[in-house]
Amino acid sequence: MTTTGIPPLPKAELHLHIEGTLEPETVFELAARNDVALPYRDVEDLRARYEFTDLQSFLDVYYANMAVLRTRADFAELASAYLRRCPGEGVRHVEMFFDPQAHTARGIPIEDVIGGLTDAVDEHAGSVSAGLILCFLRDRPASEAADTLRAAEPHLDRIVGVGLDSAEVGHPPSKFTDVFDRARGLGLKPVAHAGEEGPAGYVREALDELGVLRVDHGIRAVEDDDLVARLRRDGTPLTVCPLSNVRLGCVPGIGLHPLPEMLAAGLKVSVHSDDPAYFGGYADRNYTAVRDGLGLSAEQLRTLAANSMEASFVDAATRDALL
Ligand code: HPA
Ligand code: ZN
Repeated sequence: MTTTGIPPLPKAELHLHIEGTLEPETVFELAARNDVALPYRDVEDLRARYEFTDLQSFLDVYYANMAVLRTRADFAELASAYLRRCPGEGVRHVEMFFDPQAHTARGIPIEDVIGGLTDAVDEHAGSVSAGLILCFLRDRPASEAADTLRAAEPHLDRIVGVGLDSAEVGHPPSKFTDVFDRARGLGLKPVAHAGEEGPAGYVREALDELGVLRVDHGIRAVEDDDLVARLRRDGTPLTVCPLSNVRLGCVPGIGLHPLPEMLAAGLKVSVHSDDPAYFGGYADRNYTAVRDGLGLSAEQLRTLAANSMEASFVDAATRDALL
């Protein structure tokens, strides 16, 4: 069921952390199954911790909750629950982020992480097209990112691209130039979070040093006119997450989000849900938030949805078949 009651626009979800779809109820179910002690009394107590002040305050809860994900079946169930929602949200194609280091650091084999996620992708192949983007944690050493890419190499046929996420400020894209060079050499598509909390200069670095084909968030690019001109000229897609930006205090309120300015500047922006279990909703809720909070027209919403399909890594023929 959509929040509008109107059939949702066909779209691609290109900025979604699969671990960010872990709903509070599932945290408790998996904790019970895997005998993991939780520092929360119940679901309400957990939800009460979802008052974030910035990116780090969210990441602390996001990583802590991952302790309940232990087996290949857990990862499969997590992704399966998300993919089951997609048709109802109008999502025809997903390129989902996952954070292997957050799991391997807890002793979970990367094979179980990737195996579980691909089990779910295969299970739902008849109703939604899906691929995986392996993200490096930018607040951990670059050498660990290189080790992670090496560990993932036997599974590259199931991975579309590489990304860069976690705490942004103080961890510029240039820290990861070498591992992104290697990933591109292996045929992986490069994307990176940049300009979420970090400055416009990080967006420039992601383009120059990492060769990214899409910028995740990129909202602070609007502070730099030359950068905006470059992004428009090159048609570089930006995957914007309005509810996330509000909940993490990256913008002071939905009515002050720079999305209309980005659209007016001719940028190839699309709207996504980031960590929907934490930020108040999946794709459709983000569309209704920008419609109601920013007054975007039906035509502008159609542009956002069309941009998402064009910005995806599927070829044009596959894209047409999905629409
Ligand atoms: N920003 C950076 N890293 C993340 C996010 C985010 O919004 N969600 C999960 N990892
Ligand atoms: Zn994100």
